[in-house]
Amino acid sequence: MWDDALELYIRSSSRSKDLFEAAKRVFVSGVNHNIRFFEPYPFFTEKASGKFLYDVDGNRYVDYWMGHGSLILGHSPEVVTSKLEEQICRGTIFGTVNEVSLRLGELVCDCVPCAEQVRFCNTGAEATMYGVRLARAYTKKRIVIKVEGGWHGYNSDLVKDVSPPYGVESAGVEECVKHVISVPFNDLEAARRCIGENRADLACVLVEPVLGGGIIPAERDYLKGLREETEKVGCLLFFDEVITGFRVSLGGGQQHYNITPDIAALGKVLGGGLPIGAVCGLKEVMAYADPKRPKSERAWIGGGTFSANPLSMAAGLATVKYLSENSGVIYPYLNELGEDARKGIDRAFAETRIHATTTGIGSLLLTHFPPDGIEPKDARAIHRCDRKLQAQFYFALLAKYKIFFLPGHLGAISYTHTRDDIKALIDASIELAHEAKNAP
Ligand SMILES: Cc1ncc(COP(=O)(O)O)c(C=O)c1O
Repeated sequence: MWDDALELYIRSSSRSKDLFEAAKRVFVSGVNHNIRFFEPYPFFTEKASGKFLYDVDGNRYVDYWMGHGSLILGHSPEVVTSKLEEQICRGTIFGTVNEVSLRLGELVCDCVPCAEQVRFCNTGAEATMYGVRLARAYTKKRIVIKVEGGWHGYNSDLVKDVSPPYGVESAGVEECVKHVISVPFNDLEAARRCIGENRADLACVLVEPVLGGGIIPAERDYLKGLREETEKVGCLLFFDEVITGFRVSLGGGQQHYNITPDIAALGKVLGGGLPIGAVCGLKEVMAYADPKRPKSERAWIGGGTFSANPLSMAAGLATVKYLSENSGVIYPYLNELGEDARKGIDRAFAETRIHATTTGIGSLLLTHFPPDGIEPKDARAIHRCDRKLQAQFYFALLAKYKIFFLPGHLGAISYTHTRDDIKALIDASIELAHEAKNAP
């Protein structure tokens, strides 16, 4: 499908091709994050600004990948870069406590419903690892129930049941994940059963309000049911809000669904384009991170040379402050654009023999091509969709229209995207759908 896309891409990306050949010699598979590779080779980015990525061959793409979904205000917004410039002149790492982290911490506690206290780290993977450790220390239990298809970063505690065939995702972590059990997303009965069966040793239930592997929003009753069940058995409800935090609303998924977990992991948007992670939650749980506690009781989560480094704190503070001061405008605007994009792409394909469903919520979106009768409501359903067609669709958008989504991964609209951009995305989808309809 869309066979001319490959030739167009190759013709316009010769320098990227050469660089990728060189990259393969120094980096395993040519990349430093596995998902950044796509066929035949990824373009190399030279610079980025606002909604655009510019590659080394002079191509300009309207970017919907937006730094793994971290750039809600677009690339290098002035409101952030001006604060970063000031901070760089004052120092990039102090290795001592600093006021900018205090101000960002206060804002997190103001915005995120469950956040009575917070601890900063540098990645979402650290934040989820910290959360699991806190839950185990607090409850003195071991089992973590997570969701099939749930990606929580590369920490050894949680790399299980991320992609089919489900199981342990990496050599060397079998022991680390032996107390991790997965259940299907959006299936309250299965979760109830699993919670009941494991309640004697259950530390927490870990769930994303929007499942990142597929961008599938939770049903509210599902999250409500998990809240009730976890309370009933006395384990923690742990939301991974690395994608949804400050993205689906100022207070994240928990505010959107009006369901407050006991602890949450944050990342991405919180860093304003710089590396960040945070775990936050109830004071009585966070108190288990206190180094004055005996070693046998505490959750030792207080490391990290670069934790709360002033650059990430300054970028995060500028971003979250801007979001909170303008939330009444920004979120409705992003939601409108997201809704238009999801509906428009699906409508484009509705006229053809190809069935497309664009999942998501607010500014998040991802288009799937499910077989008849399959509703993409959990990770198993997502993997029954036509993944090859999905990759071809996103590659055709990239090669033929210079619209960049990382094939198969979340699309994230930023405040720099306009209604015209969404129209261009829909128009491109209409053209691609027509081509598909007329394909032999
Ligand atoms: C839901 C979720 N949790 C955790 C992580 C890990 O965050 P990081 O890549 O910053 O380590 C990710 C990354 O994409 C994520 O999507």
